[in-house]
Amino acid sequence: MTTEKTTAEAGTDGGIEVRPVAGHIGAEITGVDLAAGPDAAQVAAIRAAVLRWKVVFFRGQRLDHAGHVAFARRFGEPVVPPRRGKASPPDVPEIETTADRLELGGRFGMPHDEWLRRRRHTLHRGWHCDHGARVDPPAATILRAETVPPYGGDTTWANLAAAYAGLSAPLRAFVDGLRAEHRLGVGYQPRPGEDAYVRHLLDHQVATVHPLVRVHPETGERVLFVNGYYVEQIAGLSRPESQAILDLLLDQVTRPEYTVRFRWEPGSVAFWDNRATVHLAPSDNAHLDHPRTMHRVMLAGEVPVGVDGTPSEALLGSEPGRW
Ligand SMILES: [Fe+2]
Repeated sequence: MTTEKTTAEAGTDGGIEVRPVAGHIGAEITGVDLAAGPDAAQVAAIRAAVLRWKVVFFRGQRLDHAGHVAFARRFGEPVVPPRRGKASPPDVPEIETTADRLELGGRFGMPHDEWLRRRRHTLHRGWHCDHGARVDPPAATILRAETVPPYGGDTTWANLAAAYAGLSAPLRAFVDGLRAEHRLGVGYQPRPGEDAYVRHLLDHQVATVHPLVRVHPETGERVLFVNGYYVEQIAGLSRPESQAILDLLLDQVTRPEYTVRFRWEPGSVAFWDNRATVHLAPSDNAHLDHPRTMHRVMLAGEVPVGVDGTPSEALLGSEPGRW
């Protein structure tokens, strides 16, 4: 997120209320109509809450696509993804819509269940930050629910700064200096013979070496920059060493005390710091056969920097600021 100058006086919050919902992460914000365009004091208070609580939730909002993008623009520069799901609105290029998760497997010529099975190489697999294999992952994501199932389909987030702080001092010192390769498609088990998803991965490779501990550009916090989705290997360690350490770190990140879980309703909005969290998309609603339509806007992010000041290094498929 860029730092916007506001005219807010210290201590004013524009009348909004920020109510934390879990010990380490997550706050619900009330008293603001996002469609009406929050004033500068409200924007400042929301920004502070996102940085403090890592993910904030709004309920009962009535944003349309243009309003969603306009709200996002108060906090940074929305990215324009080059490839979007086919349900995305053609006239609003910043919005990505997921309407039918079942379309994904079909796109690659296999039943959706099989595609998921081939992608799920570990229990940590679903935890990710958005576009984490890029050299400049988005700073934040603003996700809005249009249609949700009557039950199931919750999203869960974890606080990577709290997870880092919760490690023992010797382990923090050990991971502080490490870097890891992040890559799209890690651990995918190819289908025998022709596999269109393998072709897709080869045609759209994205890989970056990121610091394992990232210094947050706005809060200065150290963030355990790992996830189960993109991290291939810790540099300099043997493969078994890397796997054991990654398992330990992902167990740490996903401990329940560092997480918050959100029950979506139509009109709910979640706004998270994509640099300080990972999230878990739901896997308990596919069998319910109920539509779940979500709209996403992401804000452009910085190239991460490690504890020693070394930035991430792009290996393939992404350049800072270019989508
Ligand atoms: Fe995501």
